[in-house]
Amino acid sequence: KMKIAVFASGSGSNFGALAEACEKGELNAEIVLMVTNKPEAFVVERARKANIPIAAVRPKDYETKEAYEEVILAALRESEAEWLILAGYMRLVGQTLLKAYPSKIINIHPSLLPSFPGKDAIGQAMGHGVKVTGVTVHLVDEGMDTGPILAQRAVDVIDGDVEKTAEAIHAVEHELYKDALNKLFC
Ligand code: GAR
Repeated sequence: KMKIAVFASGSGSNFGALAEACEKGELNAEIVLMVTNKPEAFVVERARKANIPIAAVRPKDYETKEAYEEVILAALRESEAEWLILAGYMRLVGQTLLKAYPSKIINIHPSLLPSFPGKDAIGQAMGHGVKVTGVTVHLVDEGMDTGPILAQRAVDVIDGDVEKTAEAIHAVEHELYKDALNKLFC
């Protein structure tokens, strides 16, 4: 089994889906650590319930990004994580982590990259009036939602309904992340 650390900043539905997949044996991995920059995020609750160790590190408590990431890195080393899996981690990964885990950091994004990187990709896509959007899983580099694409799946926009479209995208995310990681880990 691959030892993975999942990074999240929000509700953590992707974290939850990955944890469940590990539990059910649908993903050949074990989540050894959940890393968050937001100690108040709902994902912390999910990790606690699932008995997964938590590293909650507030960037504001550190003077530099490097110092912030050094603290995370120590927790990662302690946990023996082999891969870093970003699941709604809304910060750019810096050189400290990129250097420590070369080609071992993966991200999921709710659009067909390179369209609509950054925040609120679903809102961006709908604002643009696209009829098809989707989900991308990619290797992380220093850019925002850039880096080599590993997997993509298209999702039809439900006209004028952001909520339903978002629901469809999240459902695809939960499946695609599992599939893409399984390919990577075997
Ligand atoms: C997900 O849709 C994820 O793809 C997105 O944040 C959401 C987190 O939801 N990530 C990005 O936009 C990265 N730029 P979750 O907390 O319910 O998993």
